[in-house]
Amino acid sequence: AAAMAAERALAMATCTAPVNIAVIKYWGKRDTDLILPINSSLSVTLHQDQLKTTTTAAASRDFTEDRLWLNGKEADVGHPRVQACLREVRRLARKRRGDGEGAAALSLSYKIHIASENNFPTAAGLASSAAGYACLVSALARLYGLEEELSEVARRGSGSACRSMFGGFVQWQRGERPDGTDSLALQVAPETHWPELRVLVLVVSGEKKPVGSTAGMQTSVETSPLLKHRAEVVVPERLAQMMQHIRERDFEGFGQLAMRDSNQFHATCLDTFPPIFYLTDLSRHVIALAHRYNAHHGHTKVAYTFDAGPNAVIFALADTVAEFVEVVRRSFPPATNGDQFVRGLPVGSATLSPELVATVLTEPVPGAVQYILHTKPGPGPQLVDDPSQHLLGADGLPRSRA
Ligand code: DP6
Repeated sequence: AAAMAAERALAMATCTAPVNIAVIKYWGKRDTDLILPINSSLSVTLHQDQLKTTTTAAASRDFTEDRLWLNGKEADVGHPRVQACLREVRRLARKRRGDGEGAAALSLSYKIHIASENNFPTAAGLASSAAGYACLVSALARLYGLEEELSEVARRGSGSACRSMFGGFVQWQRGERPDGTDSLALQVAPETHWPELRVLVLVVSGEKKPVGSTAGMQTSVETSPLLKHRAEVVVPERLAQMMQHIRERDFEGFGQLAMRDSNQFHATCLDTFPPIFYLTDLSRHVIALAHRYNAHHGHTKVAYTFDAGPNAVIFALADTVAEFVEVVRRSFPPATNGDQFVRGLPVGSATLSPELVATVLTEPVPGAVQYILHTKPGPGPQLVDDPSQHLLGADGLPRSRA
């Protein structure tokens, strides 16, 4: 009986969620509170074997306050976006109970503890807020027994987070309604749709991003006529084209459009006043390298995309990876002995032809790329069944990590 009482006193759920990388970019809100975008966007969800967030949410009548830990350190649970997600999940849980469901459900008056960590260094500048909020919402939903689609709630944490609620290829449709109820993520195709597609994240050394996306995109909305044109005219056309390229697994079309859209996003940053710069000399170096590589082969073999930070994300088909990784290794020789330069999925070895070396490679820039992460499209948030994987212990506090 004592054990049963203890069980009832503490409920816990753990989920994992993926990172996503947009190929039609989201940049600009029409409602900053509800996080409603000025245009639809489309992304590829990356595999959680390489990049994921894990979050445990617990509720107990014994907890005296809501608490949050990020990567083992206590953080501000009062953050407005965390609070928005919590409020929305609790509202849906209450509504469900009002409908007469979930009689044995967890009390909504209990305080909650949340612990979240990434399996990749936050310092690497890899977008973690999308995975973070998708994971928070997934874990809370499990805790409260919600089964509905919750991209609308994840959107309240971070716009791009709504796309991390699905695997594969995902559209965030801008929606029309002022209350945001139609501003949702939809899966365009599952991760199994394009088995040959690979992703290389070129993690560059150092540097924090100068302006955060939230502040940056707001200045762009206020000052960039190019962004307005992009949202009204360019994106609607591109979105339809991109969906078709994905449906047809047309890498030429997909890659071309991904590069153009990344470039236009960065053009809107330059068109922002005062201007915002996310691309660096190294980014431009990678861009030129990709174009020389494609020109050498006479078609689109690799496609780059850059978000509001310095890391380059490269799309390629599996049969191109070994050669292009060698091109990157020769262009940006690792500072140390090169151990761990390539991480994630295995990469075969490749020898570069003399023609390729002559036309594609230029003066090497040692140490500029810290490492390459090789990954591929992957599934959406997952429930972690194994209780030994919970990030919170039976006392509701973070477990000391092994
Ligand atoms: C350049 O989703 O981080 O990565 O909604 O303010 O949290 P907030 O912004 P965020 O912006 C992402 C911008 C981007 C493009 C994209 O992911 O579509």
